[in-house]
Amino acid sequence: MKHYLKSITLVILILPLFMLLSCETEKDVDVNSEIREAEESEHIAIESIDTTSDKIKIGFSMDTLEEERWLKDRDMFKEAVEALGAEVEILAANGNDAIQILHAETLIDQGVDVLVVVPYNAESTAAIVDKARLSDIKVISYDRLVKNADVDLYISFDNEQVGEMQARAITELVPKGKYVYIGGADTDNNAHLFKKGVFNILQPFIDQGDITVVYDQWTKDWTPLNAFKNMEEALIANNYEIDAVIAANDATAGGVIEALDALGLAGEIPVAGQDAELAAVQRIVDGTQTMTVYKPIKTLTDTAAALAVELAKGELVIGDRTINNGKYEVPSILLEPIAITKKNIDTIIADGFHSKEDIYRQKGN
Ligand code: GAL
Repeated sequence: MKHYLKSITLVILILPLFMLLSCETEKDVDVNSEIREAEESEHIAIESIDTTSDKIKIGFSMDTLEEERWLKDRDMFKEAVEALGAEVEILAANGNDAIQILHAETLIDQGVDVLVVVPYNAESTAAIVDKARLSDIKVISYDRLVKNADVDLYISFDNEQVGEMQARAITELVPKGKYVYIGGADTDNNAHLFKKGVFNILQPFIDQGDITVVYDQWTKDWTPLNAFKNMEEALIANNYEIDAVIAANDATAGGVIEALDALGLAGEIPVAGQDAELAAVQRIVDGTQTMTVYKPIKTLTDTAAALAVELAKGELVIGDRTINNGKYEVPSILLEPIAITKKNIDTIIADGFHSKEDIYRQKGN
């Protein structure tokens, strides 16, 4: 049976590959080899759903597993879905639109009851939602909003509030001076919300002439390397005179701090991040990062899993507010983030997000 399933799925996967290969351009060659790599590196876990069982089946299409937080999302979501007696198939697209669309098609063809999507690209993922709707499959936009599409539910944290928390913490320390803003990926709606939150707080300071934002740039694909390059550029353009940095997440804050470290400036300039990644919390303890924002992932995964199962049962899910995604008012749930500095690291430990031993571990151990 498993072999039979496997060959059907392979046909589903291979057919679009042939179609892509028949009109190959340079970009297609790249995409095709990335798809092959993804297949080879087991990102396509084609056998985890038993299509013969009558359990509710949830498909979880993720953008990436690059950052620590997404590994928690993956594991905790699986656990939450299974605790509800349903099953889940999880695919991660390595930050590639074509792969994510292919994954979604695979999940739809496998007959999942609900599709949960973390979009790599807020706009192009609308194609996934349209395909799911054609097969009567409900879609949850998870953590990141899919723009211009009829998603059934959006569940995330209050991302604008995340940015506000960052800017509040940094303006308390540096009420006057030259600021650098290292944004997230332009393709991710959250990056825009984080930035909006930051500028909600900075604007009055800017209007008074107390704060000048001397550098403000997106970071392609959220990578620490691109953030490092941005920070280098910001430092050079400003004669190495910077008073504070707000980075859109902990991965980019890591890149920023490496750039500062190369000049012996790590710990001299306040830096904000968000995600409460272990490395970031360790940097807070070391004094090279000022703050992060903790988003309790378990609350997100538990809520998303429960609502996915309700949607699969045909129940009405309304959320606690609506958010316009460019097409319509999407029923939404936004969870509360928590600002973390050296003073309240215990909050993260008490929640079991990171252990005390891990946080205070000596570097290199
Ligand atoms: C955002 C997410 C953040 C961060 C980032 C990079 O959408 O809200 O927590 O991890 O993506 O993947």
